[in-house]
Amino acid sequence: MTRTRIVHVLESTQIGGRFTVMGWVRTKRDAKGGFSFLEVNDGSCLRNLQVIAEQTLENYDTVVRKCHTGSAIRVTGVLAESPGKGQRVELHAEEVELLGWADPETYPLQKKRHSFEFLRTIAHLRPRTNTFGAVARVRNAVSRAIHEFFQERGFLYLHTPIISGSDCEGAGEMFRVTTLDLGRIPKKGDEVDFSRDFFGVPANLTVSGQLEAEIYALALGDVYTFGPTFRAENSNTARHLAEFWMVEPEMAFCDLGGNIDLAVAFLKFIFAYVLEHCEEDMAFFNRFIDPTVLQTLDDLVAQDFEVLSYTEGIDLLSKSKEPFEFPVAWGADLQSEHERYLCEKVFGGPVILVDYPKEIKAFYMKMNEDGKTVRAMDVLVPKIGEIIGGSQREDDHDTLLGRMRETGLDPADYWWYLDLRKYGSVPHSGFGLGFERLIQFITGLSNIRDVIPFPRTPGNLGFRTGPQER
Ligand code: 4AD
Ligand code: MG
Repeated sequence: MTRTRIVHVLESTQIGGRFTVMGWVRTKRDAKGGFSFLEVNDGSCLRNLQVIAEQTLENYDTVVRKCHTGSAIRVTGVLAESPGKGQRVELHAEEVELLGWADPETYPLQKKRHSFEFLRTIAHLRPRTNTFGAVARVRNAVSRAIHEFFQERGFLYLHTPIISGSDCEGAGEMFRVTTLDLGRIPKKGDEVDFSRDFFGVPANLTVSGQLEAEIYALALGDVYTFGPTFRAENSNTARHLAEFWMVEPEMAFCDLGGNIDLAVAFLKFIFAYVLEHCEEDMAFFNRFIDPTVLQTLDDLVAQDFEVLSYTEGIDLLSKSKEPFEFPVAWGADLQSEHERYLCEKVFGGPVILVDYPKEIKAFYMKMNEDGKTVRAMDVLVPKIGEIIGGSQREDDHDTLLGRMRETGLDPADYWWYLDLRKYGSVPHSGFGLGFERLIQFITGLSNIRDVIPFPRTPGNLGFRTGPQER
């Protein structure tokens, strides 16, 4: 079954050439004069190929008449310049074969625009829509750009474990991994007897690959991970998923300044890449989803990112007249309304906040001389808030040990992490980029559930629970 992808047919200059395409009918229209227009899409690009099928075709009645929106077909035909508006070329069918019929009475995707809420209930069909096809292609392009960026800079791609025994963020928001029979949990006194579990100890899905990335950075220099991470936080917001993808570079011999520089270069590279490689899909998002996305990406490639301290950020927020839902006070974590205010109202662009109070950041961040703040950095963007969180890491053994005790972690569980500070410790830094938040920012889609193929959120495991939401 040789076929030419529709993207290549549409770009072809071989007028009069013969091509075979395969795809799904988006719409069919019967015209006066004895022929039908079929708009065919195969996912290789946003655009459809217009196929002209004349009634004189041998199987017009048995095939063309029967195929409707959703049907899969194979067409062999001759490429011609299109006299109609909206396309340069069209395919004049010589042969049409129905590969898979779709019943127009029950096919859930009709010509009209469906709501994103409805489309979430049919995750098995939504990639056949313009929006979800475009999201899939942009995700693919950004993934490629991520690897290109780091590979060009000599970073090593590291595969960190999905099943883990430690809590990187120390926040306790982890999914347990177990083979114990939940109906008959073995106990030792009041406690679960994990010695009878698969690993012999409690295990969970990783919330971040950072701690393992540090191990490799402290041996190989510059590394990065790009993999799935899991958080059992009960946040039902448009920016939280229980399963999301994270990109985590980690660099030895690098301080917070170097970390910031890398984050800025990284984001600019990705935005420029998307503008160059996803022109058609980005034009679509700009037209139908958010009319500012193209301009925003263009600006960001050129613009500097504002860097200020958490303390300066709190000052600006306290002085503002904005009626925030959550109070602003030094020492309190910033809510996304605060982050967005700084980006959207104060600076009109992305903001990098550094030096957060130690109480609201993870144990591994490097302590500043003031003893109150740590060398953290969050990259905040308009409409979303935080897309990157990172820091310079605490490289002093005793300070790190003190921070673990302060934050209630058992140093015995992290003996290997402490070892790294005993044997050849060096300044090192890294960050984590939330891949879906980045895709949200790029596409302008307001709900994170619409930028990942199969979103997992509290109470929603896709097909198992999806239809109840209809
Ligand atoms: O700020 P976070 O929690 O940082 C870390 O996990 C560090 N270990 C990263 C590092 O330094 N290597 O998460 C990093 C990013 C956030 O900025 C956000 O973009 C994204 O991950 N993120 C989420 N995205 C979707 N759903 C969630 N529930 C997310 N939680 C964090
Ligand atoms: Mg964070």
